Amino acid sequence: MWSVLEQLPIYTLPLYLGAALVLFRRYNSRSSSTKKLPPSPPKLPIIGNLHQLGALVHQSFLSLSRRYGDSLMLLYLGSVPSLVVSSSEAAREIMKTHDIAFASRPSTRMFRTISYNLKELTLAPYGEYWRQAKSILTLQLLSNKKVQTFNELREKVIAECVYKITQCFLSKKPADLSDLFCSLSNDVTCLATFGRTYNEGEIGRIFKKIMQEFLEVLGSFYLEDSFPLLAVVDRLRGLTSKVDRVALEFDEFLQGVVDETIKKVVNNPTPNGENDVESFIEALLKIQKDDNIGITIDGDVVKALLLDAYVGGTDTSSAVLEWAMTELLLNPNILKKVQDEVRSVLNGKEEINDEDLGKMRYLKAVIMETTRLHPPLALLPPRIARYDVNVMGYDIAEGTRVYVNVYAIMRDSKVWSEAETFLPERFLESSIDFVKHNFELLPFGAGRRSCPGRVFAMALLRRCWLLFYASLIGRFHMV
Ligand code: HEM
Repeated sequence: MWSVLEQLPIYTLPLYLGAALVLFRRYNSRSSSTKKLPPSPPKLPIIGNLHQLGALVHQSFLSLSRRYGDSLMLLYLGSVPSLVVSSSEAAREIMKTHDIAFASRPSTRMFRTISYNLKELTLAPYGEYWRQAKSILTLQLLSNKKVQTFNELREKVIAECVYKITQCFLSKKPADLSDLFCSLSNDVTCLATFGRTYNEGEIGRIFKKIMQEFLEVLGSFYLEDSFPLLAVVDRLRGLTSKVDRVALEFDEFLQGVVDETIKKVVNNPTPNGENDVESFIEALLKIQKDDNIGITIDGDVVKALLLDAYVGGTDTSSAVLEWAMTELLLNPNILKKVQDEVRSVLNGKEEINDEDLGKMRYLKAVIMETTRLHPPLALLPPRIARYDVNVMGYDIAEGTRVYVNVYAIMRDSKVWSEAETFLPERFLESSIDFVKHNFELLPFGAGRRSCPGRVFAMALLRRCWLLFYASLIGRFHMV
């Protein structure tokens, strides 16, 4: 945070001072409130608790919560009151008991710009649009049945990845598993979403660059988010124009994909994308023609939902794959158990079906344990209190941002024995599952805003049995 402030040009100083005065007054009036607020660490005027956060915000939240509020803790990120949720009981209160009160997401300028003015489901405010869009994604694009239609395509991509790893092994070259897993989940998600991959040639290069910048924009620190009056400084630092440019470039790319698909569907009205499987984009264009949907699906909605599916599915899945493989290589006894299970279920067969996968309980436990220790989203995307609400005896004001620290919850030693150890066995005898929302295991979130892509992600992760099976061949060199 200090380093962020140091970078600001000197001529913006008067602006700071003006804003500081206004914020300081607000801060003081808030402090004198008679409401019962959750415990807070001491805060500084103007910046609140921002100076106490390091680069890994979930870890800073965890260490602060251990000292000040191990269930609920109130921080001030600049002028913005922010509730940090660090226990499974508190998570249940937020995402079950009071789910409706916290079912919205905050709206920032950056979010509005990159999400077609909050048409992206992930960032959409709670309401009719969000409800209808979620039902399209959950029931039509990411249902069990739909996810199964991608089995063959998924296996083809996995087989290509295994081939590349095997080639590295045979030629005694190190395999860059991180890169290979990224390409794998990128290709599977692209094929399902757009009906084709974007990994080669000029278009592949452009796509990669856009995606890289998109993630940079998502990960940047915007003064406006914590000090709304200082939005102008983001503009002076060139951040605002970068967000605008990246949103425009992504939009041009997605529009190109939509135009290409429309042309393809017109020329060949019978199915479909690669391998004759209907991709999300084709399904969405069909739904667009259907008048019975409760919302207008214009071009921006189509592109926003494509963005949801692509961005939601790529980095998350590759992160789980990479961590699972890392843990297996660090724990050879666990790797051996996976191999034994794969061998015994396959029993010499070369083909694998969903029934076989269902029998691989240990493999599922490995994936669950990986997401427990290494959740791709350590903090759930922020929510916002839609109105004043009392949670566990504390008054939470409308507009408070809510950060559920699933990293802290899933390493809580009060709930998990040997919480820091990779121990898939813990799930073999336990009733805890992603589906049941026990609020101790939350890699996909919970409640109304929970992840609609869980079935899609699990299908990919479990079908990566081939990768684990490939590990029977020998050891890889990690780079
Ligand atoms: C291992 C893979 C994945 C993980 C760990 C993951 C995790 C999450 C989490 C933690 C949330 C926020 C939940 C909450 O606020 O309670 C979320 C939301 C979301 N995810 Fe996923 N996700 C994964 C894969 C996917 C896939 C494959 C898709 C789509 C193809 C997807 C689409 C979405 C969308 C659209 C939302 C926003 C839902 C809403 O706000 O209502 N995710 N995901």
